[in-house]
Amino acid sequence: MSQDIPTPPETTEALSFNPHDPRFVEEGIPFGTLARIRREQPIFEVAERTWYLSRFQDVSAALTDVETFRADLGLITGIPAGVAVIPEEQHYLSEIQEPRHKAVRRLITASMSSVRLKAIQPKLEEECHRLVDAMLAKPVANLHDDYAMAIPAFAMTRIMDLDDDAVGHFMRWSLDGTLMQRPMTPGVPPEGPASHIFFAEYLAHQRSLPKPSNDLMALLLDALIEGEPLTDAEIITQLHFMIQAGVHTTRSLLTHLVNRLVQDRDIWNAIAADPTKVPLFIEESLRRDSPVQRTTRRCTRDTEFNGAVIRKDDWVEMGIGSANHDEAIYDSPDAFQLGRSEPRKHLAFGAGSHVCPGAALARLEAQISVVTLLDRLDHMEMVEGATYPPLPGSLGHQAIPASLFAK
Ligand code: HEM
Repeated sequence: MSQDIPTPPETTEALSFNPHDPRFVEEGIPFGTLARIRREQPIFEVAERTWYLSRFQDVSAALTDVETFRADLGLITGIPAGVAVIPEEQHYLSEIQEPRHKAVRRLITASMSSVRLKAIQPKLEEECHRLVDAMLAKPVANLHDDYAMAIPAFAMTRIMDLDDDAVGHFMRWSLDGTLMQRPMTPGVPPEGPASHIFFAEYLAHQRSLPKPSNDLMALLLDALIEGEPLTDAEIITQLHFMIQAGVHTTRSLLTHLVNRLVQDRDIWNAIAADPTKVPLFIEESLRRDSPVQRTTRRCTRDTEFNGAVIRKDDWVEMGIGSANHDEAIYDSPDAFQLGRSEPRKHLAFGAGSHVCPGAALARLEAQISVVTLLDRLDHMEMVEGATYPPLPGSLGHQAIPASLFAK
């Protein structure tokens, strides 16, 4: 029930690692190189004035030290170098400075409260069953397109109290690149990408009602921060960011889960025999196959950090994926094991004041999607001759073909 990755032979070859290497999507994460980095140069100088933190304790400490390592000074997605000024109302949650960040974040957290999660649970269950029905009608299902990809977009529309039409929009925007755009992105019309136009119309409609019919929109429209309501542009930016932050990431998690289930019958059998192990399966996947492998910070002052001198304005990559494989914390870190003593001890959702506010929603989607497969299927089989994407490495939207055997 574990997949050990062979330890690469000792080598004197110079260490080289680019945390943004696009090949990871197709070829998987080079865990052997990361192990060498943790061992030989744990605070690795990727390029001039750019560092990669590889050990659990360092990543955890730096994520928590938000005064020194600031998220809101990081790279602004969707804006090429040279476009320096972005109106504040186009700042995503992670880019907003304190103390406003905390106040806006409270609203996003409220939108995914346990009461709201409970309310969407039956709808998610129903959707997962519907997707399994559709997959069973095919000779070979594609667990990526037919299942993992469909669930997060659906869940996000239900959290936002939107109807079925929005599911198609969310799926499309998550594939066509527009989720990475802002109104300021060159080439994008001033009214913004498609999601901005959609939410602007939706908000205008909600405002025109005597009382908003949508609870989440009511929460955002009624909120006051330092006595002032949010502008529509701010609300739209945060709704857009919820889709950007929550759809790809959760799709990755679900893709990793189904990919592993189709490839590893021992794990399938273990959780089918004892479904109380499903949360262990999910947490181990989050740790071993972290959907978010890294996140960037900017250093605000000269500092000596565990022996390395990191200077003001240096870029610092938080190696979440490496930290989650740190041999100082985990036995056989590259192995996938259901029996870890502290299954939630990982940094897959980050740490500190930017820790993922969508973690409970992601876990709920994972739990329901796995349990539905276990409820409905006797087992799944790999398709002979098919190739399977690496674990982790699902953002390439590669197919996961499987033969499904109903109970
Ligand atoms: C498996 C699924 C997910 C993973 C692995 C994940 C991972 C993360 C990580 C690592 C961070 C911290 C980034 C940093 O510190 O720079 C983060 C932040 C965030 N996530 Fe998630 N996430 C997931 C699902 C979701 C979902 C479903 C939502 C729903 C809206 C969401 C919304 C956000 C937001 C808004 C932030 C920014 C928080 C802030 O800066 O205060 N995420 N996520």
